[in-house]
Amino acid sequence: MLGQNGKLGYAGVERAIVIEKKVHTRCFEVMESDDDKFTGDNKCYMDSILAMYRENLIDRTKHHIGYCFNLDFDYGALANLQHFSINNLGDPFIESNYGVHSRQFEVGVLDWFANLWEIERSDYWGYITNGGTEGNLHGILLGREVLPDGVLYTSQDSHYSIFKAARMYRIECVKVDTLISGEIDCSDFKTKLLSNKDKPAIINVNIGTTMKGAVDDLDLVIKTLEECGFTSDKFYIHCDGALFGLMMPFIKHAPKVTFKKPIGSVSVSGHKFLGCPMPCGVQITRTNHINVLSKNIEYIASRDATITGSRNGHTPIFLWYTLNMKGYKGFQEEVQNCLRNAQYLRDRLRDAGISAMLNELSNTVVIERPADEKFVRKWQLACQENFAHVVVMPHVTIEKLDEFMNEFVEKRPSWYDQDGPPCLASNVGSENCACAMHK
Ligand SMILES: Cc1ncc(COP(=O)(O)O)c(C=O)c1O
Repeated sequence: MLGQNGKLGYAGVERAIVIEKKVHTRCFEVMESDDDKFTGDNKCYMDSILAMYRENLIDRTKHHIGYCFNLDFDYGALANLQHFSINNLGDPFIESNYGVHSRQFEVGVLDWFANLWEIERSDYWGYITNGGTEGNLHGILLGREVLPDGVLYTSQDSHYSIFKAARMYRIECVKVDTLISGEIDCSDFKTKLLSNKDKPAIINVNIGTTMKGAVDDLDLVIKTLEECGFTSDKFYIHCDGALFGLMMPFIKHAPKVTFKKPIGSVSVSGHKFLGCPMPCGVQITRTNHINVLSKNIEYIASRDATITGSRNGHTPIFLWYTLNMKGYKGFQEEVQNCLRNAQYLRDRLRDAGISAMLNELSNTVVIERPADEKFVRKWQLACQENFAHVVVMPHVTIEKLDEFMNEFVEKRPSWYDQDGPPCLASNVGSENCACAMHK
């Protein structure tokens, strides 16, 4: 609904997260005209809504630093493909009867990722998903199909899609503790593995956790499995690389995610580091695993091996376009720039006496949760308990960080009484905490 001031009604509205109750708020009504004809009034109404909505998007994009989406892209060259209903239903490697598809682009993108994660063309299978969640749903399903009585292990800092997968597939799920950094605690993992030694293990390894950007130590996870007596036919590892899956390969000295190690699948989101106007992602697995999952479907003359039926045929073209435009060198520069800018933000926060943590090789700066809902909403910060984070993506420039910091520093004194900000030691470690006791 348009607000009284003709704006979209975001500014100045107090935020209420009401979990139990469905709240039917802002909407743009569909206008039905009395005589069933599309009139000038309809057109005027729609044009004004769309123009205002666009303005709102421009403003919201300007102040977006809290989610790991790259908003810096230009796909103008692809605008003329919008008129086509491009659908990649079925298996990317088996052409279906539906001809308006983009499999040529999809397989090109998959080959690029297979090369990045070091698996031969003949040994891999993959597809372009609707995002990181779908990649995780697929990866965990593969684990369950390969090891039907497996127990799922994942750290407590894992994305909620992993716990959702466990619920959907009714897999027993064991939550493993994390270190302060957010990384999986392998000594707790070992204890939990040993208490379920009679059952195979399906493990989700986080290549960058959502809130702290922590990377689980894949090599230590594998070593722990081996030490506990799990041979490679008794475990399946899915790597959730939603954001970092595409950053780590471009960081010198970063541990490697590679199919040369005994992993079963890797997924990333395409709208995160790559940047895309609609959610998408990439899932790569081993050919022998997908054969366990898939079924032939006569109706589409293809094979069903994916989570959804119809699949977005536009997103592979967007991904293909970006990969061609940037190449390895372009990604390397962008990753380095993001890491540098994240360190800049961490240092500015520390200089201002604000709790902050930045994991090594990460662009996710964990900060004290601003005690001001309007500020949180303006900068679109994701919050959890006492902390929030800024994800320094390619569109988050030094100028934007300065604007954010200046406002933070100016407003912050009015948020606290004489006791000052809350203690964050249990979230970020006492060395990163700037509360009255730890600073
Ligand atoms: C670690 C991790 N995994 C999975 C996801 C889900 O990705 P998507 O939002 O693309 O479904 C996210 C999203 O932030 C994430 O941070």
